[in-house]
Amino acid sequence: MRPDLTPDPSSPAPASHKLWGGRFAGGPAPELEAVNRSIGTDIRLWPFDVRLSKGWARGLGAAGVLTADEVTVIRDGLDRVASRIGSGEQPIGSDEDVHTFVDRLLHEEAGDPAGRLHTGRSRNDQVATGARLWTMDAIDRLLPMLTALMQALVEQAESQIDAILPAYTHLQRAQPVSAAHWLLAHVWAFQRDRQRLVAARTTAAVLPLGSGAIAGSAFAVPRDLLCDELGFASVSPNSIDAVGDRDFIADTLYALTMLGTHLSRLAEDLILYGSSEFGFVRFGDAYSTGSSMMPQKRNPDALELARGSAGRMLGDLTALLVTIKGLPSGYNKDLQEDKRTLFAAVDGMALLLPAVAGSVATLTFDRKRMRAAVSGGLMATDLADYLVRKRVTFRDAHGAVGRLVREAEEAGVELWDLPMASFSAAHPAFEGDVLEELKPEKSLSHREIPGGTGINAVRAQLAAAKGLIAS
Ligand code: ARG
Repeated sequence: MRPDLTPDPSSPAPASHKLWGGRFAGGPAPELEAVNRSIGTDIRLWPFDVRLSKGWARGLGAAGVLTADEVTVIRDGLDRVASRIGSGEQPIGSDEDVHTFVDRLLHEEAGDPAGRLHTGRSRNDQVATGARLWTMDAIDRLLPMLTALMQALVEQAESQIDAILPAYTHLQRAQPVSAAHWLLAHVWAFQRDRQRLVAARTTAAVLPLGSGAIAGSAFAVPRDLLCDELGFASVSPNSIDAVGDRDFIADTLYALTMLGTHLSRLAEDLILYGSSEFGFVRFGDAYSTGSSMMPQKRNPDALELARGSAGRMLGDLTALLVTIKGLPSGYNKDLQEDKRTLFAAVDGMALLLPAVAGSVATLTFDRKRMRAAVSGGLMATDLADYLVRKRVTFRDAHGAVGRLVREAEEAGVELWDLPMASFSAAHPAFEGDVLEELKPEKSLSHREIPGGTGINAVRAQLAAAKGLIAS
């Protein structure tokens, strides 16, 4: 049955704008108000609070709670509220949270019909809906920034396919690789981050509105229409779960923490390689800072901050999970903590990604220094592989090459400087063609296996990476 739509002339105008309070004899203690107030943080939800409120007004119209005129008055009023806040209107001291702020302004703009908007909804389903919309929007903003960083790495890789540098294990020189292979290694990690962010967005795209405080709205608002109007992918199937579920924030924080971790590892590589000791890369002027004391310094601050920020994100992820883990079902005020962690991680990432992308795009590579670091010892595995190709077992080959390495070390020369007699003494299968085998380019040419550092394999990898970025 449709409710009676005539206004109730007996409802008193509220003395101060609050969304609750009728059941209390006096007002809350200032100490409670101070700790309870979240407007300083959740003000950022306002565009989404306005949007979901416009959707809810239309839904209440469809449910027969609002007349068509009231729906129009409320929706137009919400548009004016949005332009007021958009042009700088600030909350007042008594605005407990963003929902109260928007509601107070709506009363000023739309008059009495505004008092009907909160029918059948609660701030519990409202804040969950607003935070989900905010998260979906934030991920949409971050993804192109991440893609731009991947693009910068791919462009640098393209110009360094034939540059050779040592790859390190245990930070000890291990084997020669294409510089593009090393750069692309980071691109694949960022691709997984992209997938994680997309997955977190999917988790967020479930509509809680219509769940009310905990039991579901008593008014037949068509949630499927609301879902489409607000850009969600589906409707939450359980109102108790919907108001207490913050998995989407945890998923987002985890995705951002992993991304922060990968930024940190890239930064660490670049900081090391940019040191005078390595000297493989040089940081662009626009992405280097100087020292207030030492005139010669060229510091990669953006990269150091990227390395430093991952810890803060991990801390916020941990804080959120600890907040959630002890909560009983449904909404609990503890959940108000969620937005601080979410906003901090997204803000941090929105600053870091462009700064790291710029740092990467403006790097220059010193091919001579990279090549010079490819010392003879890096060819030891290739020497053993050479013997294996001559049917020596890998175990025996490993032993023979180990003896050669020791001999070179004792003589203070590189492997390729040892006389042929030493090779023959180490193993009779060594022949004159071994000298050719000792060239780092040769090492790469043996590794055309998919995913390996052979030049053609790297070209294929580069094409795959480019395809991903374009998709
Ligand atoms: N500021 C609150 C939050 O961020 C909004 C929801 C308040 N709900 C309530 N029942 N008091 O979680």
